[in-house]
Amino acid sequence: MFLGKARAYTNIALIKYWGKKDETCILPMNSSLSLTLDAFYTETSVCFDKNLTRDYFSLNGEEQSVQQTAKIAAFLTMIRQQYQLDLFAKVESTNFVPTAAGLASSASGFAALAGACNQALQLGLADADLSRLARRGSGSACRSIFGGFAEWEKGADDASSFAKKIPSDDWENELAMLFVLVDDRIKDVSSRDGMKRTVQTSSFYQGWLETAPADLQTAKAAIAAKDFKALGEVTEANGLRMHGTTLGAVPPFSYWSPESLKVMTCVRQIRAQGLPCYFTMDAGPNVKILVEKKNISQLKALLLNDFSENQLITANAGPGLSTLPVERLMS
Ligand code: ADP
Ligand code: DP6
Ligand code: CO
Repeated sequence: MFLGKARAYTNIALIKYWGKKDETCILPMNSSLSLTLDAFYTETSVCFDKNLTRDYFSLNGEEQSVQQTAKIAAFLTMIRQQYQLDLFAKVESTNFVPTAAGLASSASGFAALAGACNQALQLGLADADLSRLARRGSGSACRSIFGGFAEWEKGADDASSFAKKIPSDDWENELAMLFVLVDDRIKDVSSRDGMKRTVQTSSFYQGWLETAPADLQTAKAAIAAKDFKALGEVTEANGLRMHGTTLGAVPPFSYWSPESLKVMTCVRQIRAQGLPCYFTMDAGPNVKILVEKKNISQLKALLLNDFSENQLITANAGPGLSTLPVERLMS
């Protein structure tokens, strides 16, 4: 029996990953940049056991169906092939983040699973290789291996596509992200399906590919210069461009809800009043607001005019992947 347990935090992309060049290997069309956060995370245990006749997956204490286990089983099979192992596994995971609501559960989920497998099988993987492993479960997961800012360089193949920590002189500790939860239910169009449909059918996708590399360079320069306005502006513009591509897909779709638009309008108004803050959205209706820590309470106070206390969650920069003691033999 081989046991391992790990915790990984979610990350939110400031420059989005949107579209795959290779769906099996999860190689992205463009490089991306994110901030790992301390408010949401996943803890996952894995137990490889010769007595098992298939892979099992339980999430938040609930046994998942064979269909819901398929992605995990495919991930484990990839590990089995890579490391010549023939044991099935039992995976127990707890999401301290709403699942599949556009709050990056796949990022913390697969980063934690990669970390748990690394520990269980004593693979001794360095961060870059852990990042490559996590990427095979969910692209965004490769960035959650690292705390603070991370850049996923798209690379050309499995060996060269992984994330790295961006040197920032700890500037991320002066920043915060305020989550405005407008809906934490499971989204209709998963990130995977949404980006696939966009790549295959959206007449706007070319525009995304043409602008994303310059956005990334702008964001990296802003981090190097600790220029909050520049980082915020490119974050907001890049997110809007990503969402623009979905409107050109066939059939068209959008992750926005009327409530998301309300948050975006509030952010623009608050900014016009002189408080620097910028929004971004992922594959779901919830909105995240990038703000300097020194302004977070004022931002929250202003948003409380339109939203309730329990819709507003403050996140600071979070740490990278960590292993946890395996407390007990799983049932
Ligand atoms: P999100 O915005 O939450 O990342 P996605 O559509 O990208 O949503 O991915 C949701 C999928 O991620 C789930 O359907 C599931 O397959 C996977 N996932 C979520 N949480 C975990 C977890 N803790 N362990 C493994 N996989 C997970
Ligand atoms: C909009 O990493 O969840 O959040 O690789 O298919 O699992 P898969 O998709 P996922 O996509 C994330 C898309 C995004 C932008 C981002 O996180 O960069
Ligand atoms: Co995801």
